[in-house]
Amino acid sequence: MQKTIKIRKFAVVAALSLLVIAGCGKKPGPSGKTDPKKAVTAADSAATATKVPFALKEGKRLFSHYCAVCHAETGDGSGQYYGLTPTPANFTDKAFMKTLSNEMLFKAIMEGSASVGKSNMCPPWGKSFHREELEFIVTYIRTLAVN
Ligand code: HEC
Repeated sequence: MQKTIKIRKFAVVAALSLLVIAGCGKKPGPSGKTDPKKAVTAADSAATATKVPFALKEGKRLFSHYCAVCHAETGDGSGQYYGLTPTPANFTDKAFMKTLSNEMLFKAIMEGSASVGKSNMCPPWGKSFHREELEFIVTYIRTLAVN
């Protein structure tokens, strides 16, 4: 008997909270419309998801932030740090990129260019990124070769 009452009480409380939740969902925002910020974000990510895969988007963001200062936004090696000797690798050069395996790219990026027998002008980035982020960067770099 005691148990049945408890269960009923619970059912009533549950039903009431459902009503409250449902009511809140339908309540209009302060302006009387749905939140415009939310609508834009959802539409944005939907559009991006169909156009650019996340890996490339993220790879581009990281490359732009950490590498473009030397390698340039285009990846051709003409970044703002001009006068570097040797010049930063040119990722838009198809012939050059063909000589580099993904493993070599990973190694050069993680341990610096000196680790692959080049100069020490490209710093090691292994401690700055997660493995997944490095994969995003390599995926992105692989899209830059145009000629
Ligand atoms: C301070 C300037 C600088 C920054 C910042 C920089 N690089 Fe470099 N990078 C260089 C230079 C210079 C070389 C050419 C080294 C050589 O050929 O001896 C190079 C070469 C490379 C190479 C080619 C290595 C090879 O095997 O020839 C890769 C890959 C590379 N960088 C990736 C990156 C990535 C990814 C980032 C950002 C996370 C980055 N670099 C940031 C200057 C930079």
